[in-house]
Amino acid sequence: LLSDYGISPTHGFLPDVLPLTRLPDPYYNKWEAIASNLQGLILSKRLRGVIDRLPVLSTIGLEHDAEWRRAYMLLTFFAHGYIWGGDTPCDRVPPSVSAPLLNICQHLEIPPVSTYAASVLWNFKQLFIDEDIDDLDNLATLVTFTGSLDESWFYLVSVAIEARGGPIIPLMLTAVAAAREGDSATVTRCLNGFAERLDDLSELLRRMHENCDPGFFYRRIRTFLAGSKNMAEAGLPHGVIYDDGSGHSDYVQYSGPSNAQSSLIQFFDIILGIEHRPTGEKANPVSGSEREGRSAAPRHNFIRDMRHYMPGPHARFLNDVSSVANIREFVERRRDMDKPLSIAYDACLAMLRAFRDIHIAIVTRYIVVPSRENRARSRSRSPTVVRNPQNLATASRQAKFNNVKGTGGTSLIPFLKQARDETGEPAVEDW
Ligand code: HEM
Ligand code: ALA
Repeated sequence: LLSDYGISPTHGFLPDVLPLTRLPDPYYNKWEAIASNLQGLILSKRLRGVIDRLPVLSTIGLEHDAEWRRAYMLLTFFAHGYIWGGDTPCDRVPPSVSAPLLNICQHLEIPPVSTYAASVLWNFKQLFIDEDIDDLDNLATLVTFTGSLDESWFYLVSVAIEARGGPIIPLMLTAVAAAREGDSATVTRCLNGFAERLDDLSELLRRMHENCDPGFFYRRIRTFLAGSKNMAEAGLPHGVIYDDGSGHSDYVQYSGPSNAQSSLIQFFDIILGIEHRPTGEKANPVSGSEREGRSAAPRHNFIRDMRHYMPGPHARFLNDVSSVANIREFVERRRDMDKPLSIAYDACLAMLRAFRDIHIAIVTRYIVVPSRENRARSRSRSPTVVRNPQNLATASRQAKFNNVKGTGGTSLIPFLKQARDETGEPAVEDW
C-alpha cells in the first residue's frame, strides 16, 4: 500500500498533509523566530551568534509527522546557514542545533544535512487552496537562505515536478500488475500515459530560467547547499562535527542536497528497467541472469548512494519496487509480436532521455558557464589579491573550487551525460 511508504497516490512523494507553516507548540517559538528572520541574520552575519546562544530544546513537543518534518527542515536550514554563513566555513554545529537535529533524523530516518526532502518535499505551501499544487503558479516556499524569488523558484520547480509526476506511481504499479497477468493492452496504455506525463515534466523543467538567474544561483544560492563530503578545497578538510554536547562527537561527511535524491526520478528508472553504472563504467552486454546476479551485489554508485539521503520509507519503497519491476522483461519478451507495446516503452525512454537533456543544458547554464566566468575574473584580479594574505586564502580556495563539482559531489557533465545515455540503453526497436 502506498500510504505505508508515506506516498500519496495523487502527489507522490510530497506529503499528503501539507507542510506546516509553523510548529504549533509555543515551546518552539525560538526556532520559529530564527526561521522568520533567517535571511536578515545571515545577511548581517549574526546567525552564528544567535545559534550559539540558543538553548538546547528537546524533541518532546513534536507530535505528528508533519511537526517532525518541519523541525527537520528548520534545523537543517539553521545548520547550513551556520556552516556557510560567515567569511569562512565553520566545521562545528553547536548542540542547540545538533542535539535535536540528530534525534529528529533518527525518527525520520534521514541524515542530519539539508536534503531534497528539506529544501523541496517539505518546504512549500499552496497559494490558493482550490487550485492544485502541480501548478507552479500556485506554490510558495516556506524557508529560504536568501529570501530571493530565484531561490524559491529553484525549489518550487521541483515541487511542481513531484506533484505532476505523482500519479505516475499508481499508474505504473497498475502496469506491473497487468504485466504479471499478461495483459499487454493495459501495459501499453499505462506506458503511453507515462510518456505523456514525462513530457509535462520536461515542460516544467524548462521553466527554471523564468525566475532563477544563473549568476545569482551560482554565487549566492549554491553556497548554502554545499555538503561536507570532499569539501577540503572549500574549507572543510575533515567534514563537520555535529556537537551534541556529549563530548564524544566526531567528524562526519555528507553530500549536499541534490535532485538525485528525488525518489520520483529514481522510481522512473527502476520501473523502466534502466540501470545506472558507477561513473566511468562502460556498458557491458550481459545476459539476463548475469544482470540479476549483479544487482544482488550492488557496487558503489552515486545515484544508488543517494537513496541514503531519502526519507527511510521512500528509500524502502524504491527497494521493494526494484524487486517487482517487470516491464522491461515483459516488453523484451514480446518485442517481435507487439509493436504498440515496444513503441510505448521506447517512447518513455525517449521522453526521460529528453528530460535529462534539458537538465544538462540547465547545468551548463547554471554551473559550468558561471564557474568559467568566475575563473576568468579571479585570474584578472590576482595581482592585487596576492598583496593581502587573507584575500590570498580566499582566492586559492576559489581557484581550487573551480574544479567544479555538483553539490552532491559528482563531476557534473560526465556524470549527467552517462546517466542520460544509460536511459536510452534498454530501447527495444532500432530507431
Ligand atoms: C543531478 C544541477 C535542477 C533532477 C544534478 C547534478 C547537478 C545538478 C550538478 C549532479 C549531482 C550533484 O553532484 O549534485 C542542477 C541545477 C539545477 C537542477 C543547477 C537548476 C538550476 C533539477 C531539477 C530536477 C533535477 C528541477 C528535477 C526535479 C536531477 C536528477 C539528478 C540531478 C534526477 C541525478 C542525475 C540523473 O538522474 O540524471 N543536478 N539541477 N535537477 N538533477 Fe539537477
Ligand atoms: N546539485 C545542484 C548543484 O550542484 C544543486 O548546484
